[in-house]
Amino acid sequence: MKFFIDTANLDQIKEAQDMGILDGVTTNPSLMAKEGITGHDNIMKHYVDICNIVDGDVSAEVISTDVEGMIKEGEALAELHEQIVVKLPMIKDGVKACKYFSSKGIKTNVTLVFSAGQALLAAKAGATYVSPFLGRLDDISTDGLNLISEIRHIYDNYGFETQILSASVRHTMHVIDCAKIGSDVMTGPLSSIEGLLKHPLTDIGLAKFLADYKKGN
Ligand code: E4P
Repeated sequence: MKFFIDTANLDQIKEAQDMGILDGVTTNPSLMAKEGITGHDNIMKHYVDICNIVDGDVSAEVISTDVEGMIKEGEALAELHEQIVVKLPMIKDGVKACKYFSSKGIKTNVTLVFSAGQALLAAKAGATYVSPFLGRLDDISTDGLNLISEIRHIYDNYGFETQILSASVRHTMHVIDCAKIGSDVMTGPLSSIEGLLKHPLTDIGLAKFLADYKKGN
């Protein structure tokens, strides 16, 4: 399973990159605003800064809601850097724009996916990635992991190449569950990745090894 980090914070992206386990980055307008990155030029520059830190795909979201606007924006984003993936909302015009970009060989990430039907449409339109929002479904007492399973099942039935990018991952257990289900990618905060490191027996064991080493030296 590929690990993407879901942030626009450059320090956190560097931290994950330095671990050697990072495969890409996802951003959205809210994550940009959280870092105080506002205005078209600053946002475009920030995408390039992110691409210069990581080796893998970097999702950059359009803000247009009509197909013409999405195509114009997406083409400008794709020209910024070869690692940019055009992130499109799951609405009718987003599906049309996805089909356009996939026919041009430009990578896409269809976002704001909350149902298997939406994921099926994204795959039919040739999306590179589909982003079901796990955490936001859990937030409204709906089983987000079940949606990931349904999409896995449907995509496997027909051999769709669209990669399931489990998004809105909130914590480490989501990461493990996505891996069990067979999600192709997960995107979550740095804490959800670093949480995988933690086990008290590792800490206890290491402390003992170091103490025993000191006894003999
Ligand atoms: C990523 O592509 C999504 O925009 C993101 O994972 C949403 O996460 P949230 O539900 O925690 O805001």
